[in-house]
Amino acid sequence: MSMIETIPTLDLTRSRAQFPALAQTVNAHPAVFFDGPGGTQVPQRVIDAISGYLGHDNANSGGAYATSRRTDAVIGEARAAMADFLHCQADEVMFGLNMTQLTFAMSRAIGRELKAGDEIVVTRLDHDANVSPWLAMAEERGVTVSWAEIHDEDCTLDMADLAAKINSKTKLVAAGYASNAVGTINPVKEIVGLAHAAGALAYIDAVHYGPHGLIDVAALDCDFLVCSTYKFFGPHMGVLFGKREHLLRMRPYKVRPLTDAIPFRWEFGTLNHECIAGITAAVDYFADLGRQIEPCRDGRLGRPSSEARPLPASGTTERRAAIIAAHAAIHEHERALLERMIAGLRQIPKLKIYGITDPARFEERCSTLAVRIEDGKPEHLPLPLATKLGERGFFTWDGNYYALNLTEHLDVEKTGGFLRIGLVHYNTLEEVDRFLAALREIAGV
Ligand SMILES: Cc1ncc(COP(=O)(O)O)c(C=O)c1O
Repeated sequence: MSMIETIPTLDLTRSRAQFPALAQTVNAHPAVFFDGPGGTQVPQRVIDAISGYLGHDNANSGGAYATSRRTDAVIGEARAAMADFLHCQADEVMFGLNMTQLTFAMSRAIGRELKAGDEIVVTRLDHDANVSPWLAMAEERGVTVSWAEIHDEDCTLDMADLAAKINSKTKLVAAGYASNAVGTINPVKEIVGLAHAAGALAYIDAVHYGPHGLIDVAALDCDFLVCSTYKFFGPHMGVLFGKREHLLRMRPYKVRPLTDAIPFRWEFGTLNHECIAGITAAVDYFADLGRQIEPCRDGRLGRPSSEARPLPASGTTERRAAIIAAHAAIHEHERALLERMIAGLRQIPKLKIYGITDPARFEERCSTLAVRIEDGKPEHLPLPLATKLGERGFFTWDGNYYALNLTEHLDVEKTGGFLRIGLVHYNTLEEVDRFLAALREIAGV
């Protein structure tokens, strides 16, 4: 039997074997990567795609010769892959350095359509990358900013407050899909509905949600959605979805020789082609995960169990269907990890978990946990804890991870923020158990 305890639908041994980094040790301890929210590890195929591009296809785009043509093809393939990942058209997909850079660029362009007296809404729960670009734009344009607050007791968005902050002057609602600090998943479709009812745009930050759940921009009907491929097993890059009508209407800040065709008019300067090659491989990693779980028969997904499952909607590619299957299995596995982790953390005296802890509400959160040991001992603050855990091979994060408005609001910023434990699908129940034992030992309980 495998050393790794597996959950039925996900072949964890096979998945983990694809990530070379997972085999590392620290001080003779196996490395445990609970740092996914800061960036996940990559499967070998992503590494191969990046080096393969550099070794064979490396050129600038748009030239009339072989490597440049291949580069254009590589970019086109990645756009098609991300269109399957997000459920949109390929010309609605734009690549950039990262989510923050893409959002600053888009906020400037959206700002061109706003005037003094207009309003925008941001949330207390969001990563600062979905806040500061909007604040800067608002300052420049004389736009009023409203903040949607949270329920402190479970770190969920106060939807009544959000609805109350939206009115006929609101032009944009910027909200996160999932919190990178406390793991809360927001009711994004509802948020988009509230924005649209007021005639406002909805800009969704799906960076943290990407590795945990299926993104469907068509179903959400959001105007923009942004994510970062390095959070879901790909290279360090950002991807922006925009509805075609906006991409055509709005005016980018661009250089004159750059075409006005979409999506290119929204991509500034030379892109990171090698990483773009890696993006296709990351999406195909998801798809292959799904294909292993639910083998494709006659182009359709069949499920081995008797459980009924809707067939892919018409127009859905086979790869999209496989990504849907992968996410179902990832969800199931992460849920098991989360249950085990929360049950264990709750046994540690004076340890406080921020966010939802009731298993009956786990559909409202993902497997990212923010905790503090509140026993007044300086050695149990987030940074010393993360350092001691790191020496034993457990990679966690401490601080605010740029969810600064949240850590300030909850008054933990001055004392080091939270210890963040991020669980993704390549983590195992055995790692969770070892982590809990180490944490108990370090906490002296
Ligand atoms: C929820 C969330 N939004 C935005 C970002 C910023 O992403 P990027 O590093 O791609 O700019 C992060 C990064 O941690 C994040 O977790």
